[in-house]
Amino acid sequence: MISQVPLSPDGPSVSQIVFGTWRLLDDDSRHTSKDTIERLELCLELGITTIDTAEIYGLYTVESAIGAAFKEQPGLRDQFQLISKCGIDVPSDEKKAAALPHYNASASNLIHCTEKSLQLLNTDHLDLLLVHRPDWFATADDTARGLNQLISEGKILHAGVSNYSPRQFDLLNQRVDHKLVTNQIEFSLMSPGALDDGSLTQCEQLRIRPMAWSPLGGGRLFDKNDEAGQRIRSCMAGMRSKYNDAADDALAFAWVMAHPSGPLTILGSNRPERIRSTAQAASIKLDRQDCYSLWQAAHGHPVP
Ligand SMILES: NC(=O)c1ccc[n+]([C@@H]2O[C@H](COP(=O)([O-])OP(=O)(O)OC[C@H]3O[C@@H](n4cnc5c(N)ncnc54)[C@H](OP(=O)(O)O)[C@@H]3O)[C@@H](O)[C@H]2O)c1
Repeated sequence: MISQVPLSPDGPSVSQIVFGTWRLLDDDSRHTSKDTIERLELCLELGITTIDTAEIYGLYTVESAIGAAFKEQPGLRDQFQLISKCGIDVPSDEKKAAALPHYNASASNLIHCTEKSLQLLNTDHLDLLLVHRPDWFATADDTARGLNQLISEGKILHAGVSNYSPRQFDLLNQRVDHKLVTNQIEFSLMSPGALDDGSLTQCEQLRIRPMAWSPLGGGRLFDKNDEAGQRIRSCMAGMRSKYNDAADDALAFAWVMAHPSGPLTILGSNRPERIRSTAQAASIKLDRQDCYSLWQAAHGHPVP
């Protein structure tokens, strides 16, 4: 069973594995409210009680699909911690003023987008709002003002960020009234850069858990033409028997979760059998040498 863990000393309790919804509507054959409810109920059965979504997912359509499922199944919303993100505007019917894709983490935009997300998601609050991307043209004071107001009005219970560098995180963290509770970043065997760029170190220093997006490299781990993916999977084949014959996706999740900062992994598959398979990662504790064997396979050379 997947455990609940604190996201930070003052943060919410969340499940170690999070249901990601970026690709929720990608599969044309499975996009009704009934399909969404089925997937959410499977998550609950496995102990996955945290949902990660964003205003922009499905080009601004995924939040309303989740909201429709919550409306159809009363009581479902309250069983989850609901995380959403905002601050990316791309030209579309929903963002008529956007002439080009850009970021907007101004207070007014954060407040406007969050109020809209609450309506679409059929809820009166988010457990956590993340600023989706650093906006190079918003002051930290302005972004902080938006997050502070949303918390003081009870529209969000906590605030965090995504894709922030450690310096960007520090700056905003100094300006908000309530400490940021996470940085959602790309981290996987396919993209291990966060091991060395200071992001994971900062999380460990502040005792906040990072949230790792694309833990399977967006599926590249399984691409037969991807050399790193091939090396990693053959390395996994050699260790699988030690870990109860765990599947490659579960071993990849377990590697992410082995980092001392205690990352949450955000699963991206829509297939019930793969959701079940990755959930097994929570009970796999990779030993040190297997962590390094996978590091070596990911990088294509031994440690320096
Ligand atoms: N904050 C950010 O900027 C950001 C950016 C990206 C993502 N995210 C979050 O992170 C979540 C996860 O990202 P992700 O979807 O890229 O995660 P991922 O787990 O790295 O990739 C999921 C993809 O891998 C495929 N896949 C999974 N298992 C497979 C297997 N055994 N063989 C072949 N293909 C397989 C899935 O296809 P099937 O569906 O067919 O299984 C899906 O297309 C998103 O839903 C979102 O919530 C956040």
